[in-house]
Amino acid sequence: MYFIGIDLGTSAVKLLLMDEQGQIKNTVSRSYPLEFPRPGWSQQAPEDWWEATCAGIRALLEGVDASRVRAIGAGGQMHGLVALDEQGRVIRPAILWNDGRTQAQVEYLNGEIGRETLLARTANIAFAGFTAPKLLWMRENEPERFARIAMVMLPKDYINYRLTGVHATDYSDASGTLLLDVEHKRWSEPMLALCGLSAQQMPRLLESSAKVGTLLPDVAAALGLPEDVLVCAGAGDNAAAAVGCGVVGEGKCNISLGTSGTVFISSARFCPGGALHSFAHADGGWHLLACILSAASCNQWWMDGILRTSDYDGEQQRIAQEKLGRNDVYYLPYLMGERSPHNNPAARSAFIGMRMDSTREDMTLAVLEGVAFAIRECVEAGGVPIASSTICGGGARSPLWRKILSSVLNIPLTLPVTEQGPSFGGAMLAAVAAGVYPDVAACSRALVRMAQTVEPNAALARLYDARYQAWRALYPALKPVFPAL
Ligand code: XUL
Repeated sequence: MYFIGIDLGTSAVKLLLMDEQGQIKNTVSRSYPLEFPRPGWSQQAPEDWWEATCAGIRALLEGVDASRVRAIGAGGQMHGLVALDEQGRVIRPAILWNDGRTQAQVEYLNGEIGRETLLARTANIAFAGFTAPKLLWMRENEPERFARIAMVMLPKDYINYRLTGVHATDYSDASGTLLLDVEHKRWSEPMLALCGLSAQQMPRLLESSAKVGTLLPDVAAALGLPEDVLVCAGAGDNAAAAVGCGVVGEGKCNISLGTSGTVFISSARFCPGGALHSFAHADGGWHLLACILSAASCNQWWMDGILRTSDYDGEQQRIAQEKLGRNDVYYLPYLMGERSPHNNPAARSAFIGMRMDSTREDMTLAVLEGVAFAIRECVEAGGVPIASSTICGGGARSPLWRKILSSVLNIPLTLPVTEQGPSFGGAMLAAVAAGVYPDVAACSRALVRMAQTVEPNAALARLYDARYQAWRALYPALKPVFPAL
């Protein structure tokens, strides 16, 4: 039996074909454009996701007996507003998780509606990038389009909708809308009313490993798959990645260095949010989440956009080991503003500390260190002690970055054998949906294996501690300047 895992990311959709023992048979990736129509805005066309996913599935199945595919599960970029009309047509490009246009709506929600009220209704406060502020923005700025909304959904739900025709979502992804009562796992009526929505416009809520439906006949034919292939509800990409890294049950941690950087702490019980997001998990429990908006994307911007090189490894190998913890160049990673912990779409990225002897290597190192410091700041703001963590995402492939992060956080970091977090997790959820495993925890025990652990270096951790204190003073110092930039 085979399972297809989909990771509907921000730069690309990544797909994986897995058998019931968790062996990876094939992986494929298809990229799509990201639009920044105005500074701080970030949009994508849902049709691009769909076309890339279909092309990816067809490529994934080349040379494979497709009749063995039993189920599909997706992890997707969270919070994106996908709005469809009565005919199921996309009304406007999806407004993504790292879009900063909703500052006024966030101030209204956290200020006038009030954090306490939001926490009582949803377990979370508002952040730019969450779905509810985007709905308020759309109602204020695009009233004709807003009036045509028949269905609201999240990015991976759109893929499931195109695959099955069913309008559904899962609790982990729904948590990031600020429309879900996360503790009781139901839509918050007062939040829907506040955003001018009714429950009929919202997707049906399911557990991540529950069945959404089977493939629409024409879709099955176009993809070369049997019509009885199941599609499960899937999860937000961070919850799916956590499943793929074995972070299920109580008190485990996963760090993802993807386009975003996230710290994900699983919990068997509900815990209210605030500085950290309080979301449902794909294993039936809950989790706390912190998210920096630009992580591996900072390195990608620096390498591709500025240095104009694709030799990421070569650039990192030229960094002298003695430079670690002694770099006088500092970097703030706020290329898209910042979510955790600053909640400030106006924040901007910066290099600081250069002198005449500063080098290209110092700046490359500063980017890796700046992201690591920002992750540490999230961990400290959350106030939940972390003893160790798994790590996944594109950035986790860099041994240097893992070493830096481990010493900055002063914890061991473990890389799983299969580090395609969300797509592996999606395939695992599909295997549970197909009944191969009784639940997500059992599937995780059976399929997730660890590859290697990097331990923090005590001397380096001390050096980094001092550098971190200097780095941490930079945001408050620059904050008053950002709006004028
Ligand atoms: C999490 C978040 C990001 C996206 C990235 O809250 O916004 O991690 O899910 O895909």
